[in-house]
Amino acid sequence: MVNKVEFSKTLVPSYLKDLQVYQAGKPIDELAREKGLTKISKLASNENPLGPSPFAIREMTGGLWDLHRYPDMHAFKLKSALAELYNLKRENIILGNGSEGIMGYIVRAFLQPNEEVLTCDNTFIGFYILARSVGANLVKVPLTEDYRFDVVKLAESITEKTKIIYIANPNNPTGTYITKKEFDYLMDHVPGHVLVILDEAYFEFAKDEDDYPDSMQYRYDNVITLRTFSKAYGLSGIRVGYGFAHEFLISNLSKVKLPFEPNLIGQLGARGALYDQPHLERTINNNRTQYTRTFNYLQSKDFNPIKSVTNFIAFKTGSTEASDWMFTELLNRGVIIRPLKANEMPDFVRVSLGTPEEMDHYFEAMDEILPEYDKKFGRPGK
Ligand SMILES: Cc1ncc(COP(=O)(O)O)c(C=O)c1O
Repeated sequence: MVNKVEFSKTLVPSYLKDLQVYQAGKPIDELAREKGLTKISKLASNENPLGPSPFAIREMTGGLWDLHRYPDMHAFKLKSALAELYNLKRENIILGNGSEGIMGYIVRAFLQPNEEVLTCDNTFIGFYILARSVGANLVKVPLTEDYRFDVVKLAESITEKTKIIYIANPNNPTGTYITKKEFDYLMDHVPGHVLVILDEAYFEFAKDEDDYPDSMQYRYDNVITLRTFSKAYGLSGIRVGYGFAHEFLISNLSKVKLPFEPNLIGQLGARGALYDQPHLERTINNNRTQYTRTFNYLQSKDFNPIKSVTNFIAFKTGSTEASDWMFTELLNRGVIIRPLKANEMPDFVRVSLGTPEEMDHYFEAMDEILPEYDKKFGRPGK
């Protein structure tokens, strides 16, 4: 029998004891089972509502007959496709189980207990968890008043202890971004020995903003860019992410990487998706249309949504109770959104942008619950 008391003394490091497990958005099947619902719109995890590219599906289906073989540990074909698209060498690319998998390699390779990571409040929780899981100290500065990474405060907070700076650009859960000018300002203040993780999970949705700093146009030796097939490419389920950096960084990350990540189906699907640019365009266009509809809807209902360049919108409810109530009442009507308590924004919720039908479902459910909501809480902008 496992002696929990003994184990917790001897086996579990002190910094792991209080770490909370990551909470994902509620799965569709689970909600359907629990509530007996048939129509469900999952707007909680910033996924692609149009699904995977048909081309990617064909590639993955073809791979099923090779599943008795290990995948290519060098992922030659996928890396070659990425290298061609971004005009890089394969040596500058690392792949992993989602971009979060690569963040895992980064913390394992470069961080030791009590070393310091600098970032902002209200950003991607997955990164906080990973940094804490190796005992690193997280130093967090507040976002700006308009919910963006604060480059001035970040620059001021760099000390000789700072080893890594993490920036999500655009940021999740706020959907905001730092501009070219702000990125330049930050990089002017970051010493060359400090590693900057630029998490661009939502790059494809933001890339057309004039002042969005596409990190691939810069090539700093101390920056690693992380991107993913989970969002605009519609392949969250196969877990493939990629990172671009100097060969020195990539070769050290490769030492802690599990050799056969990403798996065989993941490598095939990701490469297929990369070649299906029309599917990506459809995704971005749908997102643009649903963004405008949803932003206008929320504004018309006096909710002050935060301007976003991603596939989700966060807005203020005004209190933890209001967020929880809205989440539960929408869930009862088959719409899954995300309350932001875990992101330390308990008076906000986040809604991912879906298909036109899913957004209609969301608007209808909101219209239904708002009279009761007003009686209980009132709206922040009213
Ligand atoms: C900012 C950010 N980075 C990384 C990830 C993780 O993505 P992946 O599926 O590639 O691990 C997410 C997912 O929600 C995210 O929002």
